[in-house]
Amino acid sequence: MKQLTFSLQSSLLLISLIFDTTSVSLKIPRLSPTGGQFIHGNYWTQGRPSEALSSAFDPKDLQTCYYNQTLDHFNFRYDSFNTFQQRYLINSKHWGGSNISAPILAYLGAEESLDDDIPNIGFLPENAIHFQALQIYIEHRYYGKSIPFGSTEVAFKNASTLGYFNSAQAIADYAEILIHVKKQLHAEHSPVIVIGGSYGGMLASWFRLKYPHVALGALASSAPILYFDDIVPPETGYYSIVTKDFREASETCYQIIKKSWSEIDNIASKPEGLSCLSKKFRTCRPLTTSSELKDYLESMYAMAAQYDSPPNHPVTVVCGSIDGASSTDDILTKIFAGVVAYFGNLSCYVTETHDGWAWQTCSDMVIPISVNNDTMFPPYKFDLDEFINNCKATYGVPPRPNWVTTYFGGHDIKLSLSRFASNIIFSNGLRDPYSIGGILEDISDSVVAVHTKNGSHCLDIFTSTHADPDWLVNQRKSEVRIIKGWMAKYYADLQALQ
Ligand SMILES: *[C@@H]1O[C@H](CO)[C@@H](O)[C@H](O)[C@H]1NC(C)=O
Ligand SMILES: *[C@@H]1O[C@H](CO)[C@@H](O)[C@H](O)[C@H]1NC(C)=O
Ligand SMILES: *[C@@H]1O[C@H](CO)[C@@H](O)[C@H](O)[C@H]1NC(C)=O
Ligand SMILES: *[C@@H]1O[C@H](CO)[C@@H](O)[C@H](O)[C@H]1NC(C)=O
Ligand SMILES: *[C@@H]1O[C@H](CO)[C@@H](O)[C@H](O)[C@H]1NC(C)=O
Ligand SMILES: *[C@@H]1O[C@H](CO)[C@@H](O)[C@H](O)[C@H]1NC(C)=O
Repeated sequence: MKQLTFSLQSSLLLISLIFDTTSVSLKIPRLSPTGGQFIHGNYWTQGRPSEALSSAFDPKDLQTCYYNQTLDHFNFRYDSFNTFQQRYLINSKHWGGSNISAPILAYLGAEESLDDDIPNIGFLPENAIHFQALQIYIEHRYYGKSIPFGSTEVAFKNASTLGYFNSAQAIADYAEILIHVKKQLHAEHSPVIVIGGSYGGMLASWFRLKYPHVALGALASSAPILYFDDIVPPETGYYSIVTKDFREASETCYQIIKKSWSEIDNIASKPEGLSCLSKKFRTCRPLTTSSELKDYLESMYAMAAQYDSPPNHPVTVVCGSIDGASSTDDILTKIFAGVVAYFGNLSCYVTETHDGWAWQTCSDMVIPISVNNDTMFPPYKFDLDEFINNCKATYGVPPRPNWVTTYFGGHDIKLSLSRFASNIIFSNGLRDPYSIGGILEDISDSVVAVHTKNGSHCLDIFTSTHADPDWLVNQRKSEVRIIKGWMAKYYADLQALQ
């Protein structure tokens, strides 16, 4: 389990690698439970794991396995039968065993390596003991150590190899592995609860809908399953919530950020302006456009708001430094103070990266995020045609913007799910800008919304800490109570049928 500790240490080094400057995905922030961990700047590693309440997580309890996964579950061409090694980890320390059909808590990976998630997803190890549950963590294809075609280089080369990288394939992978593990352990009757955060939360809820014979229920944390097509009205949205979070933290900070964009453009338009900005923001490479800087800053504010969790509250920290700069400092010096506060003292800032999420937003995860004119950001109207053209230019193939709502649904969600679906918890924190695309009202007795006003992205499934406020402790307690209710009914049914 060396990798787990390694990823904690390496996370700070990787901070600057996170921002994706592919034009196609600029406004669709990463949708991951931990943001690849290092996305938080230095608050994550400083704040959370060291304050962990319980010692429930011990990497030594995890057994790493690989499954020969089918490349393409959905057709019978020769190529489809190719396989790749998909990673999953099992922790059976607290498992009550198959004799009593003790439950299985299954974490469904999102768009990052499991190494980034496992140390932080405390919900499983902390609750396994009460449920006498087996824990299993499954990595999403094309991330971490679960890369088809032998190498990232080949897998990410073009649409011929990337084409197998989508949500429907991913949940089919999860179904195969869960069925395989249950069979191996003779645990066919052990109820499975799937748990996921963010994109992984969407997968968890969709998994319950598509594979009710594999999962008894789902905890879908911060899953914006409504952020597709036109379901979220365009005049509200992600960046409006980011703005609200910043404005609540500090009106002056909000004003400074709001003014900074025209200041950046103003300087960039002057001779030597970009090199002046590069120097001011200590960029890793000379800026070639002012958008590189603006996108980086937008992403930073977005991530600060998305993960604005106690005890560190990154929004407050960023604003603290912006407000705390000397009053004689110019606007951009203040903004840079915020950057340093967020990322820590790095040798350079503003770098680019390309990761799997860019492809995902250009295939099925088309999340139409606009930036409205009532935010602290430059307004931007999501233009589907332009988006499609950018995706085509980057990958050679267009996205399918209506596929998610065709395959999983989303329109009239209450009407379609209230009598059909069961056993899903949609949890959210309303400070999380993605909560705008989440389920915030109960759909039925067992498809329920559990949200907190001051919560942030995936906070409920993160490892507990001593600093957790009561509302968070209570949110987790209600989730456990609801899951226990599902299980009690299941075991009663099982007994009646045997
Ligand atoms: C999985 O695939 C590898 C390589 O193709 C092979 O050596 C191994 O035997 C397979 N394992 C199983 C369980 O089929
Ligand atoms: C499970 O049941 C089998 C058969 O009844 C028994 O042999 C075995 O010892 C049991 N295992 C445990 C862990 O109780
Ligand atoms: C994708 O890459 C493969 C492997 O290099 C190559 O054979 C194929 O022609 C490429 N496809 C396209 C559409 O460029
Ligand atoms: C930041 O790091 C550099 C060396 O990398 C050091 O010279 C400087 O004092 C540090 N600044 C702060 C505020 O810690
Ligand atoms: C902001 O957008 C709304 C609706 O999209 C429009 O009616 C309004 O005039 C805009 N305000 C400004 C200042 O551009
Ligand atoms: C949420 O946070 C605000 C600001 O810190 C605080 O005033 C409020 O009491 C909190 N609300 C709840 C429900 O904890």
